[in-house]
Amino acid sequence: MGLHSLMAYTFIAITLSSTSRVQSIGINWGTTASHPLPPSKVVELLKLNKITKVKLFDSNPQVLESLTGSNIGVTVGIPNSMLHTLNSSIKAAESWIHDNLTRYLSDRTRIEYIAVGDEPFLQSYGSQFYPFVVGAAISIEAALIRAKLANKVKVVIPCSFDAFQSESGLPSKGHFRSDINKTMISVLKFLTKTQSPFFVNISPFLSYYQNKNISLDFALFKPTAHPRNDSHRSYKNSLELSYDTLITALTVAGFPQMDIVISQIGWPTDGAPNATVSNAEVFTKGLLDHFRSKKGTPLRPRATPIEIYLYTLFDEDQRSITAGNFERHWGLFTFDGQAKYQVDFDQGAKRLVNAQSVDYLASKWCVVNNNLNISNATAHATEACISADCTALSPGSSCFNLSWPGNVSYAFNSYYQQHDQRADSCDFGGLGMITTVDPSVGNCRFNVELKASFSVSFHGSNFHHHLVSFVLTILVLQRL
Ligand SMILES: *[C@@H]1O[C@H](CO)[C@@H](O)[C@H](O)[C@H]1NC(C)=O
Ligand SMILES: *[C@@H]1O[C@H](CO)[C@@H](O)[C@H](O)[C@H]1NC(C)=O
Ligand SMILES: *[C@@H]1O[C@H](CO)[C@@H](O)[C@H](O)[C@H]1NC(C)=O
Ligand SMILES: *[C@@H]1O[C@H](CO)[C@@H](O)[C@H](O)[C@H]1NC(C)=O
Ligand SMILES: *[C@@H]1O[C@H](CO)[C@@H](O)[C@H](O)[C@H]1NC(C)=O
Ligand SMILES: *[C@@H]1O[C@H](CO)[C@@H](O)[C@H](O)[C@H]1NC(C)=O
Ligand SMILES: *[C@@H]1O[C@H](CO)[C@@H](O)[C@H](O)[C@H]1NC(C)=O
Ligand SMILES: *[C@@H]1O[C@H](CO)[C@@H](O)[C@H](O)[C@H]1NC(C)=O
Ligand SMILES: *[C@@H]1O[C@H](CO)[C@@H](O)[C@H](O)[C@H]1NC(C)=O
Ligand SMILES: *[C@@H]1O[C@H](CO)[C@@H](O)[C@H](O)[C@H]1NC(C)=O
Repeated sequence: MGLHSLMAYTFIAITLSSTSRVQSIGINWGTTASHPLPPSKVVELLKLNKITKVKLFDSNPQVLESLTGSNIGVTVGIPNSMLHTLNSSIKAAESWIHDNLTRYLSDRTRIEYIAVGDEPFLQSYGSQFYPFVVGAAISIEAALIRAKLANKVKVVIPCSFDAFQSESGLPSKGHFRSDINKTMISVLKFLTKTQSPFFVNISPFLSYYQNKNISLDFALFKPTAHPRNDSHRSYKNSLELSYDTLITALTVAGFPQMDIVISQIGWPTDGAPNATVSNAEVFTKGLLDHFRSKKGTPLRPRATPIEIYLYTLFDEDQRSITAGNFERHWGLFTFDGQAKYQVDFDQGAKRLVNAQSVDYLASKWCVVNNNLNISNATAHATEACISADCTALSPGSSCFNLSWPGNVSYAFNSYYQQHDQRADSCDFGGLGMITTVDPSVGNCRFNVELKASFSVSFHGSNFHHHLVSFVLTILVLQRL
C-alpha cells in the first residue's frame, strides 16, 4: 500500500468511526413566510436552545451570512429548478459553489452537506427531475473536488417518504417505488463512492393521515399502541416501521450498509384533525426518547440514524398547501419564535427558550364591522384568503369553531397583517374596521405580524407552488 492510499485509508477509517458515534439532532429552517424572523434573531434562538445543526432549503445569502462564525453545522439546499442546469455543466456547478458556498466558509462556519434537490423524487412531481438528479450531484461533487472542499462537504440527495413502500405494510417487503428504482441505484452508487449518507424524510404524520391502517397511537410512539408483527419481528411505532421498510429497500437494491440521516421528521400542530400541539408534543418526545435510547430498530438493532433533523423550526405562512393545510404549521416554534410546547431538545435543558425582543407591527387588527350590513362579507373574505393564510379555519383546525362572521374577521386580519397593516388593506368594500382589541379566542390566535426586515424572494418552483396554493385556497374557501 503506497503512502498516499494509506493516508486515504486512514482518513476513511477515522471518518467512519466518528460518524457512527456522533448522534445529533438538528432542525430544518425554512423561510417560506411573509414576515420571517430576521436571520440574526434566528441564529440567536438556535444558540440559546443549543441547536447545533440546521438544514436549509436554499442558499439565501442573508441566512448564510447570519450563520457565519456560529459553529452551527449547516446543510445548504439546491432547489429542484436548478438540477437541469447543473446536470449538464460542471461550469455551472463551479459558479454555484463559488457564489453559494465558498464565500461563506470560514473556520467557524461549518457547511457539512449540500442537498441536491428538495425531494426530487416526490411522487407528485412526476418524473420531471429524474434525468438530472445524479448528474447534478456528480457536477457538484466535481466542483467541490476542484475547490479542494470534497473532504469537508458531502453531497446528499434528500429522498421523500414516498420513495419507498411496502404494499402489505410489512417492512420485510419494502422496496423503492418501481418508477425510481433505476435512478435510485445510481443515487446509491454515487453516495457509496463519495461516502455520503442517505438523507431520507420520514413522516409518521403523513403515513397516518393518508393511510387509515396506522393508528394515531402507533404514529405517536404510545407504548399502548398495538404492535405490527412482521414474522418474528415486532414493530412498536410508525417510525420503526418506515425505517425498516427503507432498510429492506436499500438491501434489495444492493446497499444494505448505507448510513442514514433522517433529514425531516415532525408533527404539525394545526390545519388538520389530530394536527394539534398536544399530539406534536407527544410525538416529538417519543421521537427524541427513541433516538436517544439507541435501541435501534428490529432490522438495525442498537444502531440509529447518525443524525435527525426535526421538521421544522417555524410555521411558514407562504408554504404550498398542495398536500394539506397542515403544511404551514410544522413549526416547533410559532412564526414569531415562541415555543409551542416544551421538549428536552438539548439533554438537560428542560425548557425551550423563545426568540428574544421580537419586533412586531403595532397591536392592531382588522375585523369585519358588525354595525354595517355584512351579508356580502363572505365574498370579500374568500378573496382575501387567496393571498392571506386561512389554513387555521379549515375543519379540525384552531379557528374552525369561529362562527360567521368571526371567520370573516380572521380572513380580513390575515390579509391586513400580510400587507404590513396598510390602512387600504383593511377596506373590503367598506366592511373592514381596524381595532386595538385583540379578537383572539381560545386557541384561535389572530396574529400581529412581524416588522419586515428580511424578505425572501420567490423564484422557480416556489412560484409554481404559489399558483397551486392560490387555486387550492379558492377551492377550500368556497365554503366561506
Ligand atoms: C445529464 O448530464 C449527462 C452528463 O453528465 C449527460 O450525458 C446527459 O445527457 C444529461 N441529461 C440530460 C437529460 O440532459
Ligand atoms: C446560488 O443559489 C441560488 C438559489 O439558491 C441561485 O439562484 C443562484 O443562481 C446560485 N448561484 C449560482 C452561480 O448558481
Ligand atoms: C393493516 O394492518 C394490519 C395489522 O394492524 C395488517 O395485518 C394488514 O396487513 C395491514 N394492511 C395493509 C394494507 O397495510
Ligand atoms: C424495479 O421495478 C421493476 C418493476 O416493479 C422490477 O421489475 C425490477 O426488478 C426493479 N428493479 C430493481 C433493480 O429493483
Ligand atoms: C406480536 O408479537 C408480540 C411479541 O412477539 C406478541 O406478544 C403478540 O401476540 C403478537 N401479535 C400478533 C397479533 O401476532
Ligand atoms: C383524529 O381527529 C378526529 C377529529 O378530531 C377524531 O374524530 C379522531 O378520533 C382522531 N383520530 C384518532 C385516531 O384519534
Ligand atoms: C343587506 O344586504 C342584502 C344584500 O344586499 C339585502 O338583501 C338585505 O336586505 C340587507 N339587509 C338589511 C338589514 O339591510
Ligand atoms: C352586495 O353585493 C351585490 C353584488 O356585488 C351588490 O349589488 C349589493 O349592493 C351589495 N350589498 C351590500 C349591502 O353591500
Ligand atoms: C369546537 O367545538 C366542538 C363542539 O362544540 C368541540 O368539541 C371542539 O373541542 C372545539 N374545538 C376547538 C379547537 O375548540
Ligand atoms: C364560517 O362560518 C360560517 C357559519 O358558521 C360557516 O358556514 C362557514 O363554513 C365558515 N367558513 C369557514 C372557512 O370556516
